[in-house]
Amino acid sequence: MTLFTILFPRGLFRAAADRRPIEEVDPGNLSNATAKRTIPVVLALVVLGGWAFLDTFSNVGYAPTQPIPFSHLIHAGTNKIPCLYCHSNAERSRYATVPPAAVCMNCHTVVRTERPTIQQLTQLYQAGKSVPWVRVHRVPDYVYFSHQWHVAKGIECQKCHGQVQNMDVIRQSTSLKMGMCISCHRQEKASVECNTCHV
Ligand code: HEC
Ligand code: HEC
Ligand code: HEC
Ligand code: HEC
Ligand code: HEC
Repeated sequence: MTLFTILFPRGLFRAAADRRPIEEVDPGNLSNATAKRTIPVVLALVVLGGWAFLDTFSNVGYAPTQPIPFSHLIHAGTNKIPCLYCHSNAERSRYATVPPAAVCMNCHTVVRTERPTIQQLTQLYQAGKSVPWVRVHRVPDYVYFSHQWHVAKGIECQKCHGQVQNMDVIRQSTSLKMGMCISCHRQEKASVECNTCHV
């Protein structure tokens, strides 16, 4: 699927761009030729659009490889470290944020220091660098969302992120599309006015 969306649209747009000068110098043959090349292009865009709508935009199942194999199962599951111990910003800001390496070092100056993964973490920490974690969940910029309001209402992280404490590798497990927001807002009697989420 990635290969498809990476290769195909590029080829498609390049082909469309390459042909434009011909239309400009030869208007005589335009209608017939344009129709011939427009129909497949439009069809392809519709198919791609549908594909993107179902797959890419909903993002369910997205589980990128992280630079350090951090496991929520080990930390939040087996060792029962509370979500807010590491994601405390969820209580006070729009973003939950991923903890800085200093938080990890609260334990990993002593826990499993012989492991290569922990040595990698320690090196980054000592060099004053942050771990380049790959972002998983995201809503488009035109959507107004904040963790703070939801956490303040006592909504569990799992309602929107699934059973994170069972995940060895974090993955998006629920769609964060508009329908999901609205169905809970209806149920909880929160606002469903368009300008609640779109400013
Ligand atoms: C009402 C649904 C909802 C709840 C409850 C929720 N989240 Fe989120 N979370 C989202 C959405 C939507 C995004 C993408 C937000 C964006 O792009 O700004 C997100 C993104 C994130 C991110 C990555 C981006 C960021 O904000 O730093 C983290 C980490 C995160 N959530 C952790 C948590 C934790 C921990 C909890 C519980 C304390 C929690 N979330 C509760 C919906 C929710
Ligand atoms: C409250 C203590 C605590 C904190 C904070 C903590 N860890 Fe851990 N971590 C542990 C424990 C306990 C283990 C499991 C040790 C075992 O049983 O093998 C572990 C295991 C790991 C492992 C697996 C090591 C291996 O190869 O076996 C990695 C990687 C890791 N932690 C990364 C992190 C990162 C990154 C952070 C910061 C985001 C972090 N940890 C924060 C306690 C902690
Ligand atoms: C020991 C620290 C620690 C604990 C405890 C912890 N997390 Fe995380 N969390 C991280 C780190 C580090 C990342 C980034 C690496 C990764 O994605 O695996 C992360 C990533 C996430 C993300 C994905 C962020 C994104 O990019 O979209 C979500 C969602 C999340 N955590 C939710 C939770 C929930 C829910 C809990 C409690 C069940 C929890 N976390 C407990 C450290 C922690
Ligand atoms: C599991 C239920 C649930 C989900 C899912 C959910 N919300 Fe909410 N949301 C609430 C509740 C409850 C409130 C608080 C309403 C109140 O304060 O009266 C709220 C409040 C808000 C507010 C503030 C409203 C105000 O009146 O100030 C915004 C904006 C918002 N949510 C956006 C979103 C977006 C965007 C999503 C989807 C990405 C989402 N919510 C998903 C339950 C949810
Ligand atoms: C509770 C939050 C919430 C409310 C209320 C809400 N939206 Fe959205 N809307 C979202 C989110 C989240 C997205 C982005 C994810 C997606 O594409 O579904 C979105 C996306 C959209 C998009 C872009 C869709 C696309 O596929 O690109 C349009 C258009 C839109 N909303 C219109 C509306 C209108 C009109 C209303 C009022 C009837 C409304 N929204 C109310 C959360 C909300």
